[in-house]
Formats: sequence, structure tokens, C-alpha cells
Amino acid sequence: MSETGLQAVTRRIDEATGGARMRRLRQADWSRRLVRETQLTANDLIWPIFVRDGDGEPEPVASMPGVSRLSVAGCVDAAREAADLGIPVVAIFPYTDPALRDERGSQAVNPDNLVCRATRAIKKAAPNVGVMCDAALDPYTSHGHDGVMDGERILNDESVEILAKQSVVQAEAGADIIGPSDMMDGRVACIREALDAHGLRDTMIMAYSAKYASAFYGPFRDAVGSNALLRGDKRTYQMDFANSDEALREAAQDLAEGADMIMVKPGLPYLDVLARLVRELQIPTFAYQTSGEYSMMMAATQNGWLDGPKATMEVLTAYKRAGASGILTYFAPQVASGLKTPL
Ligand code: PBG
Repeated sequence: MSETGLQAVTRRIDEATGGARMRRLRQADWSRRLVRETQLTANDLIWPIFVRDGDGEPEPVASMPGVSRLSVAGCVDAAREAADLGIPVVAIFPYTDPALRDERGSQAVNPDNLVCRATRAIKKAAPNVGVMCDAALDPYTSHGHDGVMDGERILNDESVEILAKQSVVQAEAGADIIGPSDMMDGRVACIREALDAHGLRDTMIMAYSAKYASAFYGPFRDAVGSNALLRGDKRTYQMDFANSDEALREAAQDLAEGADMIMVKPGLPYLDVLARLVRELQIPTFAYQTSGEYSMMMAATQNGWLDGPKATMEVLTAYKRAGASGILTYFAPQVASGLKTPL
């Protein structure tokens, strides 16, 4: 009996694959779950929230659909929600009254600034939720830079001196993690030394080590009100997006200076950098799904061009697959509640 065309194909496939059929394990939901290599859980999420002065309703951020600036009381509610959902950490970013911004970012070192008040309120109401605060001056400066300026130059050491004070003030308010996001040289060492000198040895440092000069921060700058103020750009301190070896040197430097954890930012366009740091350094490494990444997804979802929840799970799982210990994401509450009732 002569072989049919189909039988010939089957024979050819069996010869070529040795009988292996990659689709065998994909045939059912249970078998796909059984062999899944990466699992996103609520434990992987850090939720960035924005705080503003006053007691009123949440103020929507136009360029970040679904994200609002919250009152201190609103931040406390968010922290309670995080606790309910099993989200380990909230990261607090302030919208500072423009009248309080100045050349030196003085509000950054005020123990009663918005971030410190929100931190104290959260730690009181939801003590089991970790609080992370940035070390950076951009929400406080009249020029929108992360450090202090002399003419057009961003001064390194003068900025670091202030960042160390800012870190102490935040840690004394109850911040569990300081996230230096300023990209000044030597900041981690000086922040660690200042924290220790104030008896804050338990305060952790998650260094924004590979933080790129990126177009994906725009909506965040709207949220903290620094976009319109920003004089020039941040390319003299944030990294050139063409570089990867340099990320390794930045991270190694931050670890030598005492960082407990490191971060890559933005996330999705830099998964190669993330995977490389994880492979080479074996240290808890986080990724920031930035405001621009968030808003891009939201815009497509609102237009009906993407299935938002599905795309979000795919992207955040990709971060995990690349090796992230966790992800800072504005989608944290939606994802965590979705994980309770899986898609
Ligand atoms: C402050 C800071 C920025 C972000 C986090 N901390 C903006 C910037 O560096 O200009 C960006 C976060 C986001 O885009 O979601 N230095």
C-alpha cells in the first residue's frame, strides 16, 4: 500500500523530532500550568502612588488614565488596599505645591513634607506594608532636576549631601526602603553612611542603578508636576540608552557602596539589561514599569486596540521571566486583585 501525502508528512515529522511533540504539554490548561516556568504573584509587586496636599477627592492625572494624586488619607486607604491584596510595598511620590519649590529643593529635607506625613500615616495604619521613598530632588526643585544646579550644570557632591539628609528624614518618618533615583555618583555610600549615623541600620536601599535618560518618564513628571518646569534634560546624570556594559558598572558600584537591592528603569525596553544584571550579579533586582509604559498600554486599551488585562499579565510575566525579583507598576492593585481571581 502506498503512503498517503499525510502519512508521509507524519513519518517525516517523527523522523525529524524523534517522536517529541512540543504541543503535547500545551494541550490542556492543567498541563500548561504544570510545566509553567514563571509565576507572577502579588508578592512581586511594588505599587507607586502619588500624594498631594489637602483633604479632597483624588485628582486624576490626565496622562495616566486610572491614576490619581491622593490625599494623605487617600494614601492610607491605598496602603490598606495593598495589605488586603498582599502587595508588599507602596512607593510614595509627592506633588509639591509649586510655591514651595525652589532652586535647592528645600522641601526634600523638611521632616513634615508631604512624603513624610504620608509615610507616618501609612506606617501607623498599615504597619505591615513596606514604604519606599525616592531619594531625588525633582519633585521639590523649581527647575525639575534631581540635584542642585550651578548655571546649567547639575552639581554632584552638593546634591548628594542633600540627598543623604532627605534619606534620613524619610527613614525617620518610617520609610523602610530608600530608593536613590537621582543617579548622582557616590550617593548610595553617602546615604548608607548617613542612615547608619542616625541609627537607621535597618533601612534598606534599593538603588535605581541602571536608570536611563528616557522618554518614558513624561506622565510621571506630569503627576509630580515637574514636566513643565524641567530645564533641559537629564542626560548628564541618567544613562545613555545605547549602553549595557555601563549598567553593569553602575550596579556593581552601587552594590560596593552598600545597596541591598538594585533596579533597572524603564523596564520593557530594557529587559536585556535586566536579564544581564540578574545573570551576572545574583542580587535582588527590580524593574520599574514606568509611567510611559503604563500610559501606552492604557491608551491602546481605551481605544479598544489591546485587551488590557491580558496584555498587562503578559508584560509583567515577561519581567519575571527576564529575572526580576519584583516590579514597580501602577497596575499593581488591578493585577493583584486579578491574581486572586485568575484571568
Ligand atoms: C525621580 C523619578 C522619576 C521616576 C521615578 N523617580 C522621573 C525622572 O527621573 O525624571 C519615573 C517613574 C515613572 O516614569 O513612572 N527622579
